[in-house]
Order: sequence, then structure tokens, then C-alpha cells
Amino acid sequence: MQAVIISLPGPPDVLTVAERPAPAGGPQDVLIRVRAAGINRADLIQREGRYPAPAHVVADIPGLEVAGVIEECGSEVTRWRRGDAVCALLAGGGYAEQVVVDAGHCLPIPAGMSFSDAAALPEAILTVWHNVFQRGGLLPGERLLVHGGTSGIGMAAIQLAKARGARVWATAGSEEKCRACVAAGAEAAIDYTREDFEAVLQADGVDVILDMVGGDYFPRNLRILRPEGRLVFINAMKGNRAEFRPSDLMARRLTITGSTLRARDAAFKTALTAEVEREVWPLVTRGAFRAHVFRVFPLAAAAEAHRLMESSRHIGKIVLQVSG
Ligand SMILES: NC(=O)c1ccc[n+]([C@@H]2O[C@H](COP(=O)([O-])OP(=O)(O)OC[C@H]3O[C@@H](n4cnc5c(N)ncnc54)[C@H](OP(=O)(O)O)[C@@H]3O)[C@@H](O)[C@H]2O)c1
Repeated sequence: MQAVIISLPGPPDVLTVAERPAPAGGPQDVLIRVRAAGINRADLIQREGRYPAPAHVVADIPGLEVAGVIEECGSEVTRWRRGDAVCALLAGGGYAEQVVVDAGHCLPIPAGMSFSDAAALPEAILTVWHNVFQRGGLLPGERLLVHGGTSGIGMAAIQLAKARGARVWATAGSEEKCRACVAAGAEAAIDYTREDFEAVLQADGVDVILDMVGGDYFPRNLRILRPEGRLVFINAMKGNRAEFRPSDLMARRLTITGSTLRARDAAFKTALTAEVEREVWPLVTRGAFRAHVFRVFPLAAAAEAHRLMESSRHIGKIVLQVSG
């Protein structure tokens, strides 16, 4: 099969197309003929050599999510059949014509949805479900702040929170991005290049914050959390150090939490996928959740796709078309 590999750690140009043997699966795995692969910010960090793949995963083919058609099922797989169209969460290996994945990490592609749109769903929806709802415990009527509102993750968080009855605010780096956050369901979006989100939100506060920025956002996030508020980290792109006064946490009974999805074990991902299929997939199936694919590149143009993500000019997801 053809795959895009990280030939050595470095800038986007290190991504090159190579010939690789088709992957072999176990009894609980399915082999997917990949039609489209989602790109995630983590792929860029992996390419730079700062986010190595877990031990059991092919080390030099990035890609955390795909959509395609099942070609083979392991002997213990009962849920899927050859020919089923699925999208799947991976720990790596998605920028390739074929990939093997645990059958429990696949979701059915709704009728009429393109492979490109479907490939943009698993990583964002599973991350948001776990962090905003399972960890952050966001409830209907509560107020959520999503930083990086037009990231793939952010657009998913805004839509899901709104659909479940929460009120959503977002931050983003331009007026155009702020308009996209509002179109996706945010009550208002704050252009952080012009306004301080703390000043905008301090009067009423928020119940949950989904943060991928870290750095100097940390003290401001803490100050706008309401009593019983929850701050959920999924990254800290502007800095990984934070200081706080435990008394502030105690006074308002705040929770600081966070997680990384790729490192979790197969059983956790299977349970999370099943909950997402039950709780979120009905929204996806009836078109109430949009994938927001900004641009689709051919597999061989993975370097160009990475350059676009690095520029942060995109709104929503970037996808590679792999075949078909
Ligand atoms: N922990 C987990 O399990 C998990 C899972 C998936 C993703 N993530 C994290 O979630 C974040 C979003 O992922 P994604 O794939 O959706 O990313 P993405 O589409 O590339 O979006 C990232 C956005 O974050 C904003 N941003 C703010 N500060 C930034 C900085 N210092 N450097 C770069 N971008 C900055 C940029 O928008 P503005 O122009 O508005 O600033 C950028 O477009 C990433 O940090 C990723 O690592 C974590």
C-alpha cells in the first residue's frame, strides 16, 4: 500500500509517500480500505518529533482518524461485515491506503455522508465528549467557554454543547473566525487579538472551560470560573506551567482536570466510542452536527495540508483524500 511517512523529524517537507506492506490485524480488528484521513494538530507535533506514537503503533505513519470501507474482519468481530462504511479512531497510521483498527473504535458512516466529512468526525467528537461532558460534566443551561473555537476540536465542542442545551462562548484569532464560531452555535465569540476574554466574561462567569492554550490563559481562566466550575485541559500550546493558590480552588470549589485520548487503552476507547454512538451519533445522522471540513488535499499533498494547519488560517478540519 501507499502511505505518507515521516521520513525524519522536521518541517512539513519530511512527509513523503512510501510503499509499505498492508498491516495485519488480530481477531478483534478490522482492516479498512481508507478513503479519507483527518489531520490533527497532534500529527504536526508528531512530525516534529515531539509526540512519539505509542509503542504498539506504527511509528512513522501519522493519522489519528480515517473513513473508509471494511475489507476484512478478524475472527472475533461480530459487529461489522466486509463492505461496511465506517469512520474510526486510531492511535496512528491513518495517512495510508489501508489501516487496521480495533472493531470497537469504529462508527458507522451515516447514509449520504461523504468519506471526507466522516474522516473529520472521530477524533474531535470523541475528544469533546470525553473532556467536555464526561470530565467537565457540562449540563444543560450551563455556560461553556471554548478556547480555539475554530479548531477542529473547537467547532465540535461548540456544536455539541449547544445541541445539549448549554450556552457557549468561544475565543478565536480573527473576526472571520469569530463569525464562524457564532454560526456554529456560540452565543458570542471573542477575538482575542482585540479583546480580553476575562474582561468580557468576568461579570457572569462560566461553568466549564475547554482549554488547549494554557500559558497566560490559566490565571484568567480560573478567575472567570463560577463556583463549582471546571477547567479542562486538552493541551497547553502557549505554555505548560501554571501557578495557582489552592485557596482560590477551595473558595469556589473548582476542579482542574484534563486528558489525552491517544494514550488511553483499547477498552476505554471502545467504551467511549459506544457512548458517543448512543449519545451523539443520532445528531450526526440527522445532520444536526456538521463536520466543517475546510479543505481536502490528496494524500500526496500531506505536506501542504500540514503547512495550512501550521498557518492556523483554517476554520474547522483539514482532510486527506486517500483513494476513490
Ligand atoms: N488531549 C487530547 O486528547 C486532544 C485530542 C485532540 C486534540 N487535542 C488538542 O486540541 C487542540 C486542537 O486540535 P485541532 O487538531 O482541532 O487543532 P487545529 O484545528 O489546528 O486548531 C488549533 C487552533 O488553536 C488556536 N491556537 C491558539 N493558540 C495557539 C498556539 N499557541 N499555537 C497554535 N494554535 C493556537 C489557533 O486558532 P486561532 O487563530 O484562533 O488562535 C489554531 O487554529 C490542539 O492543541 C490539540 O493538540 C487534544
